[in-house]
Amino acid sequence: MEATQMLEVLEGGRRYDAVIAGRPISRRTFPVTNPATQNVFAHVTDCDAEDAILALRATESAFESWKQTTATYRAGLLKAWHAEIMRNQDALAHALSSEMGKPFTEARGEIAYAAAYVELYAEEATRVYGETFPSQHANKRLLASRQAVGPVYAITPWNFPAAMITRKVAPALAAGCTVIVKPAEQTPITALILASLWLAVGGPEGTLQVVTAADPLPVSKVMFDSPSIRKLTFTGSTPVGRKLYEQSARTLKRVSLELGGHAPFLIFEDADIDRAVHEVMLCKFRNAGQTCVCTNRIYVQRSIADKFAARLSEAVRNLKVGDPSRTDTQIGPLVDGDALAKVQRHVDDATSKGAKILVGGSSPGGLYYTPTVLSNVQPGMLILEEETFGPVAPLLVFDDEEEAIAKANDTPYGLAAYLYTRDLSRAMRVSERLEYGIVGVNDGAPSTAQAPFGGVKDSGLGREGGKWGLEEFLTIKFVSFALDS
Ligand code: SIN
Repeated sequence: MEATQMLEVLEGGRRYDAVIAGRPISRRTFPVTNPATQNVFAHVTDCDAEDAILALRATESAFESWKQTTATYRAGLLKAWHAEIMRNQDALAHALSSEMGKPFTEARGEIAYAAAYVELYAEEATRVYGETFPSQHANKRLLASRQAVGPVYAITPWNFPAAMITRKVAPALAAGCTVIVKPAEQTPITALILASLWLAVGGPEGTLQVVTAADPLPVSKVMFDSPSIRKLTFTGSTPVGRKLYEQSARTLKRVSLELGGHAPFLIFEDADIDRAVHEVMLCKFRNAGQTCVCTNRIYVQRSIADKFAARLSEAVRNLKVGDPSRTDTQIGPLVDGDALAKVQRHVDDATSKGAKILVGGSSPGGLYYTPTVLSNVQPGMLILEEETFGPVAPLLVFDDEEEAIAKANDTPYGLAAYLYTRDLSRAMRVSERLEYGIVGVNDGAPSTAQAPFGGVKDSGLGREGGKWGLEEFLTIKFVSFALDS
């Protein structure tokens, strides 16, 4: 199916075929459900191990020629891909919103965010510099150059069906790697459309293939067993990331893992409360709380705790929950029944141990959960230990800076942390001591294509975004030249 057709047929309950080794595969399909209606609205190819082997052979062969293309050529294709994604921003946003429930306006924002990675790596492709360095021998010349690491296997999550693909794929393609993407079972359509747009702008066959599967295990086994796949890049949960890290060890693949988080947000008593509430809202309720960098613990200094709780509750009460296809909707449904059950479990556990619901605290039906603020949250509650991945803001209190830092760092996770203060010295002091890969100072939404994204401790390995994201797909080659003496 042509890219333009793919974009047109979304309403028709049609089939979306994965294109592997240049050919559409339609043997078997699996259904895709719209979380807002819980109705099946499309079917996509259900790839198996045989399809995975076909994709593997195609990526191996494409890599041999793709790695030899010039950076300028690759940059040109990436620029064209960027333009095509932006030209189809609304249609892509519609597909994305339909398969994961993200409100349309936010989904449009995600497409622009996704495209920004493509644009950035189109530019970075031509900046893969080497170095020369001196030798102690007069007749020797020493060079270090950067080369594509090899074919890549990318496993991407459902919460950002477009941006988590381009954040991995664009730097890989820019570096000269070929990529096989295994998108989340819930959100295969955005992935297939992105790949079709790549082919439509002239992306060579086999350079980017999307292997959709209801059961990812047989497909992944082929990739992990293969010594040709030189790099794994994964965004998802910490337990799954750990398993994939182990499986990658057998063939010593390079690995990038963007795993779970449990972000603290520290609000100091000198904060402008309205602005702090605004940043917490951006941070917590983006994507209905379904992001790895959403705050899961909001620590407020005691002297302003009541005032902050009241203002936050008012803002949360005003959030517009509803049909994601409406442009004024701010909170859509959760992605599936498991996601809803987890949110409900966290709130029930917290209230059974003494937390108080200031606003929300229930499901109005379907996969929706009313945006919630909890106060009197205490250690020992599930919500402080696991990622909730839902629209629930737990409030805690602290007395001084030392206590705030200690509480913020008291977790195995280390992805993102936030603080709000007007005291510049404190902002610097605290941000230096937070054991996290990302710190937002008075900024609840720091993610941007130019910046390094990634965590420490149980939140993973490596960085995506900016010049750092490109390094993950490059390997260094040392060449020693001995001249005739
Ligand atoms: C994520 O939740 O994994 C990505 C969020 C972001 O890019 O800000």
